[in-house]
Amino acid sequence: MSAMPIAEPTSSSAALDLTWVRAQFPALAQTVNQHPNQRPAVFLDGPGGTQVPQRVIDAIADYLVRTNANTGGAYQTSRNTGRMIEEARSAMADFLNCDADEIVFGPNMTTLTFAMSRALGRELGPGDEIVLTLLDHDANFSPWKALEEKGAIIRTVKFNETDCTLDMQDLAAKIGSRTRLVAVGYASNAVGTINNVAEVVRLARQAGALSYIDAVHYAPHGPIDVRALNCDFLVCSTYKFFGPHMGVLYGKRENLKKLHPYKVRPSHDEIPYCWETGTLNHECIAGIKACVDYWEDLGRRANPAVASRRAAILAAHEAIHGHERKMTGKMIAGLLAIPGSKLYGISDPRRFENRCATFVVRIAGHTPLELATKLGERGFFTWDGNYYALNLTEQLDVERLGGFLRIGLVHYNTMEEVDRLLAALREIVG
Ligand SMILES: Cc1ncc(COP(=O)(O)O)c(C=O)c1O
Repeated sequence: MSAMPIAEPTSSSAALDLTWVRAQFPALAQTVNQHPNQRPAVFLDGPGGTQVPQRVIDAIADYLVRTNANTGGAYQTSRNTGRMIEEARSAMADFLNCDADEIVFGPNMTTLTFAMSRALGRELGPGDEIVLTLLDHDANFSPWKALEEKGAIIRTVKFNETDCTLDMQDLAAKIGSRTRLVAVGYASNAVGTINNVAEVVRLARQAGALSYIDAVHYAPHGPIDVRALNCDFLVCSTYKFFGPHMGVLYGKRENLKKLHPYKVRPSHDEIPYCWETGTLNHECIAGIKACVDYWEDLGRRANPAVASRRAAILAAHEAIHGHERKMTGKMIAGLLAIPGSKLYGISDPRRFENRCATFVVRIAGHTPLELATKLGERGFFTWDGNYYALNLTEQLDVERLGGFLRIGLVHYNTMEEVDRLLAALREIVG
């Protein structure tokens, strides 16, 4: 069994100026209810989508006021639009550590993945195998399962029910000489497990298969380095890491060139444009550039000595890591202490490096919907159900019971919000 690394807890918390961070996000100042029941809004719905800094809002509005045009025209706003898209592309390339022509913009991760599965389907023959996992969001499952229509055989990898980690032994056994693609999530959007994707990529590559990494849930929590991972594809969604509602796909240049997208004839044949069907959401792409600017700014504040945008993004991740980890410790201890509660996923502090700050629980005698509704009335925005991690809720047999209550923390949350959430939950369950 190729075990995931178990790291000792660290006490390091690089400088994260939470007051500055929170001031960047105007939405965080919202309240719910009227006096005397007015409460501050507590955004624990990051796994569903995060709030955006003011500069993202400004960039979107500014684009629409000053630059709004389609691309390819022989005039100023069109040329500026083209330039802006390329700036956003190289910003995302620094975010993922690749070259700009390996970045494809699209409406969301799901749509990009269906486009890629259709393209890959053109290359598959009967008997070719695809390895998927039961821990994944359905957006990294159904698009590949659809290729059964082409005669592909789907092999599914189990997870360990005790701690909701991927069964790496099963994964290694499912990969073979007929495997063409291994699709795996970087982190689970339900139980928060961070998978050993470097090892998954290695196993896929060894078998001559492509690797497709869903980094949607991981992106707000940890640094992504597609070069170091050596993966073939990686997808993420900017609305999960403080940007607008869009998706981004990284594809190794050779793969983007080799595969054939479904496209209209007059559009570009060169990568990455041939993968970007139709007119893109230009205003949101302007927002993506501003989102990466936020990450860079956060990193430069934490470590003014950084020499590049990429180094600043890594410094930002370093700064948020200690904070998220402290909140994780408090949240897990608090959730475990609630009478009748069952937490799914890693709970041992010595293994916190293998999870992110996303927590699912069930509490005896209360449905997840009831808990989320009561929390919502008190200003805590959580989620209930399966969040499209359908194979997981089915295997854990909670799908028929309303799934789980999910509480997600990102770096703009505070220790005090964790305390208040726990107090509210204790009050609700009596
Ligand atoms: C892990 C994971 N993968 C994929 C998706 C789908 O992303 P999108 O909404 O960009 O299609 C989500 C959305 O919640 C997710 O959490």
